Amino acid sequence: MENYIKNEILKNPENRITYAHFIEMALYHPIYGYYMQNRAKIGKGEDFYTNSNMGSVFGDVLGNWFCRLFRDNDLHPAIYECGAGTGKMANDLLNRLKMVDLDLYNSLTYFIIEKSPYHQKIQSQLTAGHPQVKILATLPESGWEGILWSNEYFDAFPVHVIEKQNQQLFEIMVMLEGDQLKETRQLATDKEIYRYLRDYNIVLGEGQRIEIPLAMEKEARRIYGRCNRGLVLSIDYGYRNEEWGRPAAYRGSLRGYKRHIMLDDVLQQPGSIDITCHVQWDTLFSLGRTAGMDNHPLMNQQEFLLASGILELLEEQASVSNYNPFSPAHKYNRSIAACLNPAGISNYFQVALQTKGLSTGWPLFEQSIFNSF
Ligand SMILES: C[S@@+](CC[C@H](N)C(=O)[O-])C[C@H]1O[C@@H](n2cnc3c(N)ncnc32)[C@H](O)[C@@H]1O
Repeated sequence: MENYIKNEILKNPENRITYAHFIEMALYHPIYGYYMQNRAKIGKGEDFYTNSNMGSVFGDVLGNWFCRLFRDNDLHPAIYECGAGTGKMANDLLNRLKMVDLDLYNSLTYFIIEKSPYHQKIQSQLTAGHPQVKILATLPESGWEGILWSNEYFDAFPVHVIEKQNQQLFEIMVMLEGDQLKETRQLATDKEIYRYLRDYNIVLGEGQRIEIPLAMEKEARRIYGRCNRGLVLSIDYGYRNEEWGRPAAYRGSLRGYKRHIMLDDVLQQPGSIDITCHVQWDTLFSLGRTAGMDNHPLMNQQEFLLASGILELLEEQASVSNYNPFSPAHKYNRSIAACLNPAGISNYFQVALQTKGLSTGWPLFEQSIFNSF
């Protein structure tokens, strides 16, 4: 992979490439790209955890809640999951739907939108018990109706990186210094970058760095633009525009992950590390609004889980004979507690809900005491 990238740099007349080009190759080159390789990445002993590693709790919460949404809104029975990783959440969710509403389960089509052939393969193996799963590389052009959801999808798109120095905007590029991949900068000339900053009202302070997620913007436009009626649920880590100026985000949010260790320098070991950055929530809200979606208040993950009924899932522990801390019921309850732990995984995630043509299913969220709007 590294040699391939070095050749790409040398092929360029100025011997440098954008971060977006570097990340596209490092993550999605058809042979060497991190997500395209035949190896596990998500879970214990791999590179990073996601919500899919919290037992079946996530799939169960979403399964119960989706079921109510389909019924209450008389919604076309289709679910689209973008970037489904191992397929575990799809499998958990479908197991739950089958248990709580067999008629809905039987009428449902569950589309997985997945770019990586390796991930497509493991997703189809894991969901083999559910004949309604269809795996596609991209969202159908014909438009969609139903529920489209994702967990850590929008954070996985290639981004440009810019920074402001001496009142001028620079684009951060990737070059070779000897044999090493290094950053360099040049005055930003890409009109699309300036257009993006204008469209989403992003103003950088002196010394500030930020990612420009043009590929994510394109994908989000496609998702909202093709929505005829339904819900878009996006779970991810991200910032609102006003948060990018805070110290933690002032130098941007581009990171690498390998074996659960966070790497600040994403240029090392391309192809063997995950590269990710925080989602720009205001961009998604603005794009949604333009496409006629209703944006609901951004929540943190704990409040979403509480509002969508996680506590209904607590297993009864009344019988003394069942007081075995290693029983499946105790384990399940511990996963629920971990999902709600203010210092745990949910603390890092937010949940965006955007709808078109749906009227019911929201009162719980509006009453939420944690509401961050
Ligand atoms: C960070 S992983 C998240 C996996 C899963 N949702 C989870 O939470 O465990 C990102 C997933 O999105 C897929 N992906 C990235 N870009 C994509 C694109 N443009 N179209 C479809 N899938 C994509 C990757 O192959 C991977 O399966």
